[in-house]
Amino acid sequence: MSTSSSAIESVLVENRVFHPAEAAVKAARISGMESYNALCAAAEKDFTGFWAQLARDHVVWDKPFSKTLDESNAPFFKWFEDGELNASANCLDKHMGTPVEHKTAIIFEADDGAVTRVTFKELLAKVSQFANALKAQGIQKGDRVLIYMPMTIEGVVAMQACARIGATHSVVFGGFSAKALQDRIVDVGAVAVVTSNYQMRGGKELPLKSIVDEALSMGGCESIKSVLVFQRTPTACAMVAGRDKTFEEALAGQSTECPAVPVGAEHPLFILYTSGSTGKPKGVQHATGGYLLWAKLTMDWTFDVQPSDVFWCTADIGWITGHSYVAYGPLAAGVTQMVFEGVPTYPNAGRFWQRIERHKTTIFYTAPTAIRSLIKAAESDDKVHPKQSDLSSLRILGSVGEPINPEAWMWYHKHVGGERCPIVDTFWQTETGGHMITPLPGATPLVPGSCTLPLPGITAAIVDEAGHDMPNGAGGILVVKRPWPSMIRTIWGDPERFKKSYFPEELKGYYLAGDGAVRSADRGYFRITGRIDDVLNVSGHRMGTMEIESALVSKTDLVAEAAVVGRPDDLTGEAICAFVVLKRSRPTGDEAKAIAKELRDWVAKEIGPIAKPKDIRFGENLPKTRSGKIMRRLLRSIAKGEAITQDTSTLENPAILDQLGEKY
Ligand code: WT7
Repeated sequence: MSTSSSAIESVLVENRVFHPAEAAVKAARISGMESYNALCAAAEKDFTGFWAQLARDHVVWDKPFSKTLDESNAPFFKWFEDGELNASANCLDKHMGTPVEHKTAIIFEADDGAVTRVTFKELLAKVSQFANALKAQGIQKGDRVLIYMPMTIEGVVAMQACARIGATHSVVFGGFSAKALQDRIVDVGAVAVVTSNYQMRGGKELPLKSIVDEALSMGGCESIKSVLVFQRTPTACAMVAGRDKTFEEALAGQSTECPAVPVGAEHPLFILYTSGSTGKPKGVQHATGGYLLWAKLTMDWTFDVQPSDVFWCTADIGWITGHSYVAYGPLAAGVTQMVFEGVPTYPNAGRFWQRIERHKTTIFYTAPTAIRSLIKAAESDDKVHPKQSDLSSLRILGSVGEPINPEAWMWYHKHVGGERCPIVDTFWQTETGGHMITPLPGATPLVPGSCTLPLPGITAAIVDEAGHDMPNGAGGILVVKRPWPSMIRTIWGDPERFKKSYFPEELKGYYLAGDGAVRSADRGYFRITGRIDDVLNVSGHRMGTMEIESALVSKTDLVAEAAVVGRPDDLTGEAICAFVVLKRSRPTGDEAKAIAKELRDWVAKEIGPIAKPKDIRFGENLPKTRSGKIMRRLLRSIAKGEAITQDTSTLENPAILDQLGEKY
C-alpha cells in the first residue's frame, strides 16, 4: 500500500458539468440534491435508525429483527441478526398477487438471437422445481453449491434455487480454467456442481462440463456428490454414472412448488471468489439480509427503477455485478430485465445497440472496456455505429468495473445516451455487495470520469496511511469509516486474512477498499485513481499479480522467476506485463516468441484466458535491491516504456534493465 503510487499522481482537471433535466429530477425518488442531502443528514443523525427503517421498507421479513447493528466483535459486523428472511422469496414470492406476477421477469436473448421470455410467476415455478431437485440430491441448508454456468435463465434459476433452500452458492465465471475451478471447489467445500454441457459465445460452442470433469479428477474434490448438467446445446457430453444427472433427469417428477426456507439475516447467501494482492483468491462471504437490502435499495436509488423499465446489465453472473444486478436486484425490484448470452461483437459490434432497439431497453449498465472497444469499432465501421439503431427508449446509462476515462464518457453520453441520459458511474467492489459511490440520476450533477458522491449512509473518505483525513484536492487511500449492511462478512475459512486485508491496524478500524482516490476541490467529488495494491484491473476483471506470478513459476521445467505488473492500456484499462527469468539462457527472436506463447497458454490453463499476459519480457535476472527485493516500480516504468528516472543506486544489477526493456 503506497499513496505515492503512480495511480494517484495523475490528477485530472475536468470542468464539464451535466445537470439532470428538470423533468427527471421531478420524477425521481431521490429528487434533487436537497433530497440527497436530507437522506445523508438522516443517516448521520441516527445511523442505525436510518438503516433499520430502510430494511423494514425494502425487505420482506419472515421474522422481524430487533437489533440493527452489532459492532461488539468488529470488524465482524452483524446486521439485523435476529431477523429471518429468504432472498428468493424477496425476489419472487413477494410479487405474487401483485401486478408484477404476470410481468416479464427475464427477456433472454441467446448468442444466435433466439429470444425466450419468462414471467415472475413462471420463474418462481422454475426456481421452486429446481430447488426441489437440489433437495432430492440431498442438498441442505448451509451446504455449498458451485455454479459454473453460461449466461442463461437457468444460471439465474440455479442461484435463486440455492437461496430458496438456504444453500450457499458459489458461482465461478465460465472463463476460468479447470485448475481455478478445482481450487474454488476445494476451498469452498462444495457438495454439488451445477453446470452446462456447453456454452455459446460469439457463434462458438465452448465446453463447460468437460472442464468440470477435469477439475474433479484433479483430486481434493471428494466433497462433490452430484453434478447437474444443463443441456444448453444438442451436443452430447460425457456423464459419470451415479454422479452426473441432466437437468431433465433431476427435474423429472419434481413439484413446481417449494416453500422458501427462512434463514437468519447473517446466513451466508453466497461466497464469491475474487483476487487479492497476496496468495490465492479470496472467498468473499455475503450475508442474506444486508446484501438483499442493498441489491433492492440500489436498484431504487441508483437506477431509480420504474414499473415500465426494461433493465439491462451486461455483466456475467460469474462476477459480483451479475449477482447484484442480474440475479437479485432486478428481481427484488420487480423490473423486467434482459439477460444476454453472447458477446458485444457478434455477429457484429453493433449487437448491443441492436439489442437496445429490439427490446426497448430503458436502463443500460455496462463496463468502460466494452464502451471503449465499441467506440473503436464504430469509428472504423459506420454500420455498427450506435446511430444506426433507435436508442430513444434509453433513459439512464451506467458504467461499472473500472474508471471511465472522460473521452469514453463523452462518447457514451453523446452517441448512446443522445445527450439526454444521465450516466451513473458506479464505484463498488465484490466486497461491498453493491454500489457505494455513484451519482443519482435525478439529483447529482455529473462530471465525466468522476463517480461523484457516496450513497446516503456510506461514510467514504480519503485518508493518508495513518488514517488521517486528506483535504479535497489531495489524493489518498479510499476508506469507509463505518460499516454498511451489504459489506463482506469474512473471507470464507480465513477470518484472519479478512481482518488483515480490509481492516489494517493503522487505519483506525476503517474499511480499506484498496483503491486510491481524490476528491475535487470544488464539489468534493470522488475520482478513483486505481488500485494501490498488487491487484490489476484488466477489462474490468480483477486479477492479482501474485496469482499470475505463481501460475508462471509453477511451470517448473522452464521458469525460474517471474514478476508481473500492470501497464496502462487504451482499450483494456490495464494490461498484464510479465518479466520472466528462465531456467535456461535468455531467449531472443523467434525462440522468445515461441516460449512467450507457451507461457501464455500455460497461464490460460492455470487460471483462465483473461489472465494471459499481454507482454512477456525475458531477462537473465530481475531488478533487485541488494537485500533481494524485486523493484516493482522500475518494472512498471519499463512496462510503460518510460525512461528510468527512479533512483537505481540500490540496484544490484543495473545492466538487466536494458534487457528487460527489449521487445523480442
Ligand atoms: C475494483 C473492484 C464493481 C463491481 C465490478 C468489479 C474498480 C469498480 C469502478 C468505478 C473506478 C472502479 C476498483 C475496485 N472499480 N468500479 N466505477 N470507477 N474504479 O468488482 O472485481 O471486485 O473490482 O474495480 O478498482 O476496487 P471487483
